[in-house]
Amino acid sequence: MSQQAGGDRGLFSGHFGFVIAAAASAVGLGNIWRFPYLTAKYGGGIFLLVYLILMLTFGYALIVAETSLGRSTRLSPVGAYRAYAGSKHSPFLSFGGWLNAIVPMLIFPYYCLIGGWIIKYLVEFSMGKVGILAGDGYFGGFISDTWEPVLWHLAFLGCTLAVILKGVEKGVEKASRVMMPLLLLLAAVVAVYSMTRPGAGAGIYYYLVPDFSKLSIMTVVVACGQLFFSLSIGMGILITYGSYMKKDVDVEKATNRIQIMDTLVALLAGLMIIPAVFAFSGGEAEALNAGPALMFVTIPKVFNSMGFGGAIGTMFFLMVFFAALTSNISIMEACVSTLSDELHWSRRTSALFMTFEAIALGVPCSLGFGPWSFISVAGMSILDMMDFTAATVLCPFAALLTCLLIGRLVGIDKLALDIKASSAFRREKIFRVCIAWLAPVILLIVLVSSVAAALGWIKM
Ligand code: PFF
Repeated sequence: MSQQAGGDRGLFSGHFGFVIAAAASAVGLGNIWRFPYLTAKYGGGIFLLVYLILMLTFGYALIVAETSLGRSTRLSPVGAYRAYAGSKHSPFLSFGGWLNAIVPMLIFPYYCLIGGWIIKYLVEFSMGKVGILAGDGYFGGFISDTWEPVLWHLAFLGCTLAVILKGVEKGVEKASRVMMPLLLLLAAVVAVYSMTRPGAGAGIYYYLVPDFSKLSIMTVVVACGQLFFSLSIGMGILITYGSYMKKDVDVEKATNRIQIMDTLVALLAGLMIIPAVFAFSGGEAEALNAGPALMFVTIPKVFNSMGFGGAIGTMFFLMVFFAALTSNISIMEACVSTLSDELHWSRRTSALFMTFEAIALGVPCSLGFGPWSFISVAGMSILDMMDFTAATVLCPFAALLTCLLIGRLVGIDKLALDIKASSAFRREKIFRVCIAWLAPVILLIVLVSSVAAALGWIKM
């Protein structure tokens, strides 16, 4: 992939280039770190069921819509919104475009922080400290430290910046082509190991069998936010990547592959972590509600009980590191592309701006687990608040505006024509119903409920 600002943008080499880049953006911490802890917290099987239904309906519709919106305008979100509506200047269009552009700017700082935690675990595993990492309270002690997590956060940010500035995407892409299948394989091995631990059966049951008594509006709200986070929807990424896509690439097929890969990794991550929570801590409410800490607490326990735990742990965290790095590069790329397209900054200035932003917002997220832990809203830490605002509130809002742009302002026919130019568009009916009706209604409900939850009117 090669890309520059403005009209001089590069193009992906074709179907494969787009699928690899978009899958590298999609598969990341969202699948391995975020999906399992949300599934554990929001009812297990019922969360999984809601997630899968949403994935097949408006996950599908929105991933196709955003990609072809980018492809037909060849612009990043702010410009794409404007150009798609015929270069009109309306507050709705500017707001919608910028909303899509701002979401990744909010995710970037805390994504770097979690990426830093991954590097820390990678280093510690490679030094063979498996028993220490698996110890009770180790992770809590680490994140509540004032400076250590910040240093790892900077390390991860530095890796991302180096790739963006040095333009070594090609190398990273090549590495992730090897790492992604390996990650799948290793995740499958670890999942089988977790599932065969004594006591894990209850975890498999909790994860796979829906308990409808646990269904609440928050299940839908959070599953929807997770869907967006995981597929990188409502964040300008797919619009930007679509803008680098050739006209003859089959949008429906390409996006389908990304959805399948993304869901597979998330399902496996759940199978690795949730049965292990039951095997190692009996599945008590406290363990299931561990939130962002879940993976870092559970996975070391799994590796500690295995032979060659140090080596396997190192391999595992190395692959997660690559998955996280490629996603983080895509987040930064989306931000840089908007800043250079809209504000006419150079790539370097835009990248430096994002670096400062990641430090300015990422450090408070880290301190929120230590000296600033007194700051909390509705039981959420600073990181949780940023994540909730970006993924659960703003993403659905951005997606809602995209549906209105396509479905109401311009009309679905225009986009459908563009999609059909290169694809059989087999699920056109589902697409139309979702964009015109289903998605706007559900997104509106999700939006109102998430705000109500943040204000404490409904239980999270
Ligand atoms: N989809 C990525 C993941 O699941 O980890 C995260 C992500 C990528 C979020 C790109 C936002 C974004 F713009």
